[in-house]
Amino acid sequence: MRNIVFHKETKTFHLYNDKISYIMCVLKNGHMGHLYFGKRIHDKADFSYLVEECQRPMTSYIYEGDRNFSLEHIRQEYPVYGTTDYRHPAIEILQKNGSRISEFVYEGYEITAGKVKLQGLPATYTESDEEAMTLRVYLKDALTGVLLELLYTVFSEYNAIARSVCVKNTGTETVHLLNVMSLSLDLPDQDYVWMQLSGAWARERYIKERTLEQGITAIDSRRGNSSHEHNPFMVLRRKHTNEYRGEAIGFSLIYSGNFRIQAEVDTHNVTRITAGINPKGFDWKLEAGEMFQTPEAVMVYSESGLNGMSQTFHKLYGRRLARGYWRDRCRPILINNWEATYFDFTEERLVEIASKAKKCGVELFVLDDGWFGARRNDRAGLGDWIANMELLPNGISGLANRIEELGMKFGLWIEPEMVNKDSDLYRKHPDWILQTPGRRVSHGRYQYVLDFSRQEIVDYIYGMIAKLLSESNISYIKWDMNRSITECYSIAYPADQQGEIFHRYILGVYNLYERLTSAFPEVLFESCASGGGRFDPGMLYYAPQGWVSDDSDAVERLKIQYGTSMCYPLSSMGSHVSVIPNHQVFRNTPLHTRANVAYFGTFGYELDLNKLSDAEIEEVKAQIRFMKEYRELLQFGTFYRLKSPFNGNETVWMVVSEDKSKALVGYYRVLNGVNLPYSCVKLQGLDPDKLYENELANTKHYGDELMNLGLITTDVSAGEVPQGAEPCTDFESRIYLLKEKQSTN
Ligand code: GLA
Repeated sequence: MRNIVFHKETKTFHLYNDKISYIMCVLKNGHMGHLYFGKRIHDKADFSYLVEECQRPMTSYIYEGDRNFSLEHIRQEYPVYGTTDYRHPAIEILQKNGSRISEFVYEGYEITAGKVKLQGLPATYTESDEEAMTLRVYLKDALTGVLLELLYTVFSEYNAIARSVCVKNTGTETVHLLNVMSLSLDLPDQDYVWMQLSGAWARERYIKERTLEQGITAIDSRRGNSSHEHNPFMVLRRKHTNEYRGEAIGFSLIYSGNFRIQAEVDTHNVTRITAGINPKGFDWKLEAGEMFQTPEAVMVYSESGLNGMSQTFHKLYGRRLARGYWRDRCRPILINNWEATYFDFTEERLVEIASKAKKCGVELFVLDDGWFGARRNDRAGLGDWIANMELLPNGISGLANRIEELGMKFGLWIEPEMVNKDSDLYRKHPDWILQTPGRRVSHGRYQYVLDFSRQEIVDYIYGMIAKLLSESNISYIKWDMNRSITECYSIAYPADQQGEIFHRYILGVYNLYERLTSAFPEVLFESCASGGGRFDPGMLYYAPQGWVSDDSDAVERLKIQYGTSMCYPLSSMGSHVSVIPNHQVFRNTPLHTRANVAYFGTFGYELDLNKLSDAEIEEVKAQIRFMKEYRELLQFGTFYRLKSPFNGNETVWMVVSEDKSKALVGYYRVLNGVNLPYSCVKLQGLDPDKLYENELANTKHYGDELMNLGLITTDVSAGEVPQGAEPCTDFESRIYLLKEKQSTN
């Protein structure tokens, strides 16, 4: 159930479903006021008491002779700066006369069933009109003729509101958009803990928290990608909210470029959240008759803690953001040659790796970097997407056929946005890179960024990649992006449009993705940007899975995958078993622990299985059998975080099937200890009345037992190791399989 009601007499809008309400109204000056976002409440015509007008010191007022009505003290929907409100605005428009003041006044609205598609941008969608309702509120600035369309979608099944803004210049003069947020939300208090997912290369999406205080709290990216450093996602939770109880609001921006998410707590403890394209350096020239569409932002309200919030994101993003053939399909178990060979391979070596993997049950072989042009190291070749015939005498199609003959699918790595100076493409088109005239241009990993703001360059790259995909039997593409953007400037645009280039670049990336995924709908795309540098909802729209991090160590991955799960579903998380000593932290973890972590994702291998012992190969075969049996549950079940790697030595998480007949619990202990305390974890999401068999411990328990008493995870490392028992070591882990015990009568 979802609905949008408009109360004419009070000009109040109420968007709701069974779980949430979102209420706003037209204020007496015609601006939009925000009234409420939270748990579903009764509908009513009048909530005007929430607009608390009163005289306050040091305040500027709208009306002559009135000392009550000031925008500074009113919660708003889409505020502007400088007409009595001094907080950070949602929009700023530079006009011909130099002014940045605007007054957006209500003009009307439209309510439609379903959801509208955003031109050229990734966004959530519906498959039938019953799934959602959309409201457009029209506001106009009389002086400039700029029209705003505030878009709101309320879903029937998800506690989520999707928002975006469309700006139309219906005036006669050109204006410049200097700031145009996708979302602005004024909350009535500041009693929140701000949670962000931040880190660095190989340490992405760690959970970081701080309490909101008067002033600004913000995360952003100015790197041209969403970045390893900050994910376009933020949570406000109440102080006592935990994983299962209490209020949490998640904010997620469906965008892969420069973004900013900010909270401003004002002097009266009102919290203003804004999220959108980073205004830093942004300047979009909007001529008369033109329009600009912002990316979409999604707000999820949960009163069942962080897990409740995450589960809504997982379902919404897994089912109504990710698209296409692979969206609901179990993902192939793959082997990737990167950590096995790096640049040092021949066709024979690759086939050897693939053959062994095939014998173990692997379904897809992925050839990573190094197969094209003059690429024998990272200094050359990017841009020349033609096989190096010295390494691959039969080309990509020959290799792909050999892999197919083995009974496996073939996948390929590309990095289409980049070029090395040592490449035919650069030699032919040195002016195709982003560079500022007259200035030196910086490199990252010896590579330069193609100017994807130019359609002819996107078209050229499309041609090369499409040729490759049509000529060879390619079932999977890993699309990488291995540097951040510097000296961002396009020689194709005039001076007054240079502030558009970062955004135009990402629109070019989306355009290429859209065309390739439409032309080759059955190819599985995995996004990657030096691991998790662009692990964001924008990418998820095109590529249903992404390489979570270049750090493939099982222990490191606990934090990375745990943090990532705050917003993103397991079906989107590329996670592999890699070699030991691990190539990032040089740690030796047991093979079973590497798999036990990687199962909670899309699963694969990142090593040469020929180098494993016979016993290890048997273990790998068993892992693959296990994953094939349970991947539907792992990738599409309901995920619960139970114990956080950020809080201690143990991590526990679990997935439960839709009918609650099966569950898998992953238990991980980083360091071993001596004579450890008893260990137990209360499970979640089971059917209290079902009897479950715990195969590992050979015991049976009702769901209510497991959820209230807990699952005992104490092992032989507690106390003395009995004779004959297998002692535990560091980096221990196990998977508990819980299956509903079918009654025998
Ligand atoms: C990036 C990716 C890796 C690998 C290399 C190849 O770092 O994240 O997985 O593909 O590029 O150069």
